Amino acid sequence: MSGLLFIILSNLFAIVIPPIVRESVDGVIGLLNNNQLPEYSKYLPAYFDSSAKLAVLSGVLILVAALLKGWCMYYMRMTLIIMSRKIEYEQKNDIFKHYQQMGQSFFSKNYTGDLMNRISDDVSKVRMFTGPAIMYALNLTFMILMVVGLMFSVNATITLWVLIPLPILVITIYLVSDSINKKSDIIQKKLSIITSYTQETFAGIAVVKSYGRENDFARDFDTLNEGYRDDNMALVRINGVFMPAVMGLVGLSVLITIYVGGNAVVDGRFSLGNIVEYILYVNMLTWPVASLGYVTSLVQQGAASQSRIEEFLNIPADEDLGTKTIAKLEKNIVFDNVSFRYAESDEWVLRHVSFKVEANTKFGIIGTTGSGKSTIAKLLMGVYEPTEGEIRLDGTSLKDYSRKSLKTMFAYVAQDIFLFSDSLKANILFGITSPEQASNLELAVDTASLTEEIKGFPNGLETILGERGITLSGGQKQRTAIARALVKNPTVLLIDDGLSAVDTKTEVSIKNGLKKWGKEQTFINISHRISSIQDCGEIIFLDQGRVVEQGNHEFLLLKNGVYAALFEKQIVNSTEV
Ligand SMILES: Nc1ncnc2c1ncn2[C@@H]1O[C@H](COP(=O)(O)OP(=O)(O)O)[C@@H](O)[C@H]1O
Ligand SMILES: [Mg+2]
Repeated sequence: MSGLLFIILSNLFAIVIPPIVRESVDGVIGLLNNNQLPEYSKYLPAYFDSSAKLAVLSGVLILVAALLKGWCMYYMRMTLIIMSRKIEYEQKNDIFKHYQQMGQSFFSKNYTGDLMNRISDDVSKVRMFTGPAIMYALNLTFMILMVVGLMFSVNATITLWVLIPLPILVITIYLVSDSINKKSDIIQKKLSIITSYTQETFAGIAVVKSYGRENDFARDFDTLNEGYRDDNMALVRINGVFMPAVMGLVGLSVLITIYVGGNAVVDGRFSLGNIVEYILYVNMLTWPVASLGYVTSLVQQGAASQSRIEEFLNIPADEDLGTKTIAKLEKNIVFDNVSFRYAESDEWVLRHVSFKVEANTKFGIIGTTGSGKSTIAKLLMGVYEPTEGEIRLDGTSLKDYSRKSLKTMFAYVAQDIFLFSDSLKANILFGITSPEQASNLELAVDTASLTEEIKGFPNGLETILGERGITLSGGQKQRTAIARALVKNPTVLLIDDGLSAVDTKTEVSIKNGLKKWGKEQTFINISHRISSIQDCGEIIFLDQGRVVEQGNHEFLLLKNGVYAALFEKQIVNSTEV
């Protein structure tokens, strides 16, 4: 509201300038020609009796008006632009929060680049709409109305003549800025492709170099870069004709003013002061009229971005499963005839899987790659829901528990481990749900067989990992992830192929360490390596989503089926190495 007031005020102060100029020009000319004081001089002190003094007076008046106008514009910006920055801030927070609440499947369906664009590009386009576009639109509406109104009040016919080029100017500018915007969008997209390409190349630089493919990558990059350059050059060309065209049309208006106005002066219907006044009006109109097209395209883009953002915000967040809580597994975990397929595919990944994990026992899941082991882990963590069948914890369907409660009870070491570029300690303590759990740090690190290695790190537990610090080996990463899971002292520990990059000796020491965590712990170990799970009380063998064999190690060997065959194979392989 106050923004509106400042807009009106600043325009008022702007439009008083041309009449002052007109009066002073006419006054000075009157004095010079006929030694006749202008009409308004009777309101002035007798002191203003010469042309020079009159000119100084109008100079001072113009200066004051300009200062007041500037002051109002400052406050207009302060109110409107600040408001748009606040909206931008809120919108970014809303979007980020919404991202965090989305389910896993959302992220597998959407490109990271698109997700990034929504929160950066689209939000800034909306801000351009809520801030600058609204400010310019209001400002130029008032400006045009006031100036044109004033011009008509001076002389309607001449005004009509002078304004003829302006509509052409508006249309030209709209068309040009539209094509500039479209070109800019294409350039923006190309730039993000180049960025992704560069990023991927450097992320995989070791592979690129080891296969000697540097030249191929450089060539592909060159092609991308060339397209980017050509589009930019086209944009420069459009921009290049833009200003001259605007200036040309404005010049035409000035020309008409002088010609039509000059004729009117000869006829005595117009004064020389009027001509100067009109030239000032035309100049004042140039900018608002020129920005009309620009503002229109800002509004269009803002609206498009806003609808993209809304479309995303309207996707329902991953709702909570249920409200029941479970602190500790008392009886068992049951998979009851569970079948599953991923939403985007129609292939069954799990078929009629049934098994029971008794509380406080060790349970092994083994199978070849792609047999569905990781899918079982994700179902158990509530990342996905079974397509058919049911999973029950202590007799209650998994669906009825709250996510938070499940996450407190389970500690999950996923197959693909992600460590943040932060200290080792921060990474290990990442998932703790109460401050007391931090006291488990040392034991967790020790159980994960990391103690010795940490001593060798430059800053011990405070050593920074990742891009800004040291790079861990695959096995070290896995053990860090295990420490991260153990710190929570979970009642159910679920490790998905978490020891695959760890040598057998370390694996044994980790397993021995796990015994220190008390008997009140259920351990589900998923692996493709028999040595890793053979000490489990119960083992299921998964093949193409089906449980094909079940029992303990000795039982399964005696059975002499697929498990025994895999065991044979892995024994042979490990002795060969
Ligand atoms: N997000 C997903 N979307 C579609 N199919 C998937 C997805 N994740 C895994 N799959 C498919 O499900 C099958 C089982 O995968 P997974 O559970 O990861 O097996 P494992 O862990 O035993 O190697 C594979 O055929 C895999 O291609
Ligand atoms: Mg897996």
